[in-house]
Amino acid sequence: MSSALDFLRPDLRGFAGYSSARRGNASGTVWLNANESPLPSLADEGQRLNRYPEPQPAILRARMAELYGVHPGQLLVTRGSDEGIDLLVRAFCRAGRDGVLIAPPCFGMYAVAARIQNALLLEQPLRDEDGQWRLDPSSLLKTVVGRDVRVVFLCSPANPTGQALSLEQIRSLAQALEGRALLVIDEAYVEFSAIASAAGVLAEFPQLVVLRTLSKAHALAGARIGAVLAAPELIAMLGNISAPYPIAAPSAALALAALAQPALERSRQRVLATIRERSALKLALAVVTGVRRVYGSEGNFLLVRFDDRPMAYQRLLTAGVVVRDVSAMPGLGDALRISIGTPEENLAVLKALHPEHIG
Ligand SMILES: Cc1ncc(COP(=O)(O)O)c(C=O)c1O
Repeated sequence: MSSALDFLRPDLRGFAGYSSARRGNASGTVWLNANESPLPSLADEGQRLNRYPEPQPAILRARMAELYGVHPGQLLVTRGSDEGIDLLVRAFCRAGRDGVLIAPPCFGMYAVAARIQNALLLEQPLRDEDGQWRLDPSSLLKTVVGRDVRVVFLCSPANPTGQALSLEQIRSLAQALEGRALLVIDEAYVEFSAIASAAGVLAEFPQLVVLRTLSKAHALAGARIGAVLAAPELIAMLGNISAPYPIAAPSAALALAALAQPALERSRQRVLATIRERSALKLALAVVTGVRRVYGSEGNFLLVRFDDRPMAYQRLLTAGVVVRDVSAMPGLGDALRISIGTPEENLAVLKALHPEHIG
């Protein structure tokens, strides 16, 4: 059976990373090993931020592992899933030699991380088959084979196209890629979808990686907390190459509070409300003059094609509504991505696009 570290950069094998002051097992009552201030700032209201935080806050890690149904050793807490993407590309791609494969149109940070690492970027574009976005797994496999692709990023539910991969599709892709490349399933929006998380099949595939985040369904984008879920040896390796103290203590505390009842229940309610609003907005947009197509979405956004995209964008801006112009992405020259807001915010979208709309 292959190992999660088969594709690790050879020069990183055995690399233990920075031995920070919080990494050892030392215990004591007088802490003079990290050049910290012995006394807190006047602005510090009891959080003891004069001390460096734990590199991996143990309680938060255990809580997130419980939430995602994995063992704590299979989870790395990261500064959002953006950091997970970056760490994976840096760990697995030799600059100028190894490749990252993406399925555009997709989230832009995979390509950015590849560019920063000087990794090759290979593309297996999604196909829009009459309103259904589809990935062609056999072409994807062909692209991986023989091209030194080390990391395949797939987003499910996908941003900005909205479709999701079933567990069966993920299983068969993971099987086909075994021994060839890491398969990374970015599940930033999975809470808004009916599909099951790929975390449930991690143990079956050593080269499968799942990215999760508290930025979307848990409403903590400003706290920057995400997670990489993967085989323990891969998690340990990513921990070794990450920053010495990546998780700010106030963010960790906030995340822990957000994962306790009743905040968790409130998040569930918010997600349900978002799903209801998504359906309502999709129906309403579909009959707006000038809207060419509204795609089905399993995320907290809708991808919309317009007859006159610049005019639609301008109308929204004039009404003070800022949406995402995705027209530079391949095949989306006429499209905007609209996040699902509150009922009032969604109504503002409809009114801006369709001034006769009376709500
Ligand atoms: C698909 C996808 N992955 C990851 C991210 C980054 O999320 P985070 O805030 O956890 O870094 C986003 C942000 O929009 C996203 O759309």
